[in-house]
Amino acid sequence: MRAFVAISFPDEVVDALLDIQMALPVGRLVPAENLHLTLAFLGEEPVSVIETVHETLNKLSAPGFALELAGLGTFGNRHPANVHIAARKCEGLAGLHGKIRSLLHGAGLMLPRERFVPHVTLARFSRNMSPADVHRLGMFLASHADSNLGPFKVTQFSLIRSTLGAGAPSYDALAHYALR
Ligand code: 2AM
Repeated sequence: MRAFVAISFPDEVVDALLDIQMALPVGRLVPAENLHLTLAFLGEEPVSVIETVHETLNKLSAPGFALELAGLGTFGNRHPANVHIAARKCEGLAGLHGKIRSLLHGAGLMLPRERFVPHVTLARFSRNMSPADVHRLGMFLASHADSNLGPFKVTQFSLIRSTLGAGAPSYDALAHYALR
C-alpha cells in the first residue's frame, strides 16, 4: 500500500488555494480534494507496516498550531516539476514533523533523509514543457509570487492511502490524529 502522512485543510483554505490555481495558465492542477501538506512520505509498504505506522501515530502527542502558507515556488530548476505554495516556518509544524519522524524511525521505518520543505503542490508539469509554457509559468510566478493565506488552525493530521492511476492519484484518509 502506498501511503503518506499529511495535513488537510479547512474549506476556506482549499477555496483560497483554488483561487490561486484558477490564475495558473499551465500544468495539471491538483484536484481540490487532493490538496494537502505532506509531513512524511511512506512510499509502498505492506499493510502490516501501515498498521504499525497507525499504532505509532496514535500515541503521538503534539500541540495544535497556526499555519500560514506564503510564497509560490517550483521544484526542479531547468525542468520545473511542480508549482507549490510554501508553508511559513513555525515551531508547531517543525515540532510535529520532528515527532512523526522520530516516532516512525523508532518503530523501525526507514524514511528518506531529505530536508523537510513543507509545501502544498498546486500543479504538476510534464518534463517536456514547451518554452511558451515555461514563459507563461514565469509570468504567473512573477505576478503571484507573494500569494499568502492563513494563518489557520491545524487541529489534526491524517494517514492517507494513495492509489495511482491514469490521472490524478486517488487519496483516502485511513485515520485522523487529533493535536492537543
Ligand atoms: P509533492 O506534492 O511535492 O509531489 C503524495 O505523493 C505526497 O507525498 C505528495 O505531497 C508528494 O509531494 C509527497 N512525496 C514526497 N516524497 C515523495 C516521493 N518520493 N514520491 C512521491 N511522492 C512523494
